[in-house]
Amino acid sequence: MPKPCAYVLGAGKTRFGPTSKTIPQLAQEAIIEALSDARLDPCDIGAVIVGNFLGGPNESQLHLNSVVAGLLPGLNLPSWRTEAACASGGVAVHQAVLALSRYDNILVVGVERMSNVVGMELTRNIGMAGDVVLDQIAGLNFPANYALVAQSHFAEYGTTPRDLELISLKNHANANLNPKAHFHLKEVCQADIDAGPPVASPLRLFDCCPVSDGAAAVIISSRRADSRSVPILGSAVASDVISLAQRSTCTSFPAARAAAEAAYAEAHIDSRDIDFAEVHDCFTIAELVAMEDLALADRGQATMLVRDGQTSIGGRIPVNASGGLKAGGHAIGATGVGQIYESVLQLRGEAGSRQVEGASVGVAHNVGGVGGTCSVHVLGGAT
Ligand code: COA
Repeated sequence: MPKPCAYVLGAGKTRFGPTSKTIPQLAQEAIIEALSDARLDPCDIGAVIVGNFLGGPNESQLHLNSVVAGLLPGLNLPSWRTEAACASGGVAVHQAVLALSRYDNILVVGVERMSNVVGMELTRNIGMAGDVVLDQIAGLNFPANYALVAQSHFAEYGTTPRDLELISLKNHANANLNPKAHFHLKEVCQADIDAGPPVASPLRLFDCCPVSDGAAAVIISSRRADSRSVPILGSAVASDVISLAQRSTCTSFPAARAAAEAAYAEAHIDSRDIDFAEVHDCFTIAELVAMEDLALADRGQATMLVRDGQTSIGGRIPVNASGGLKAGGHAIGATGVGQIYESVLQLRGEAGSRQVEGASVGVAHNVGGVGGTCSVHVLGGAT
């Protein structure tokens, strides 16, 4: 294994789901847990990076780097906010890895509040991650974008609604094992899925991630502190044109393939070395596309792993043991940091009843918009 590019010293996360807590309250809860997990004090932190998407339109609160860094009073730390739509958290973690040349013990906080805005207004605000003319004015919101991805995957590879239902059932079952999941302790059966109303055909209610609030925090260092420090072996971000209308395929995201290739090369691994994956399943179809972009399956073949149960905990390549975005929740700016939190638990053997046995290398995959940005992190594998 190569020398890690960074270590995660500590991680914390709030429950994802609707709450009346404010952005500072959510961020503080995650920060306190991460500091305690790392056995560090606020004065040990060298810089703060905040991942957030909707602070402006949902909360009338921008300048979130100051809001969050201000939770560590009197330190006057360097801080900034990262925005890359739903990949804001993963890109913030990547920025921390890059910033280690200047700062150490970098606190990355992903935070989002969504449930305070409802209906059309929230759909419009989330839609700002799409191109103004090609997507927003045309009415192509995010469920509709991913419906096009699903329709194309169905047509090209024979994927069926049943494949998507299997992903939903698996991720809801996993969320029942995760006390911090949005849908923890919500039993979901086939009849519930059948009763789910259409959202954007072929996607129905149980194909969609929910609207979640939440925060996650990790502390990134250039040095291993102790045996609980988790190595980051590869860290990459790639981007693409923003709209599906500008692409030649809807069944794969070139940015995700490029980020995976770069992260695997840095980590000196290939996809066969990966023991588990936390992927960006904002809609069930996105989990299939992610598995194929991460080379966990050939293009069009991820359905075979799903149908065989190989992506369940205990399968050959467990995907979204946390419940994923679908059932674990999608607090947009917090999601990519939350994936690192879950990976840290898995690699330390601290994931409780959802533990992937023998987990030693994991991958976290975070997508902005409909593939305009993607971050991929490879964790574990060295001590
Ligand atoms: N999956 C399963 N159940 C869901 C759900 C989801 N995604 N969203 C809501 N529910 C459930 C609620 O828990 C509630 O159940 P209850 O009656 O047992 O309490 C019920 O459905 C109604 O909830 P409500 O909040 O009124 O749903 P809604 O119709 O307003 O919203 C969606 C449903 C799918 C439109 C909403 O979850 C959504 O917009 N998701 C996508 C968010 C998004 O685009 N994120 C960015 C991705 S790129």
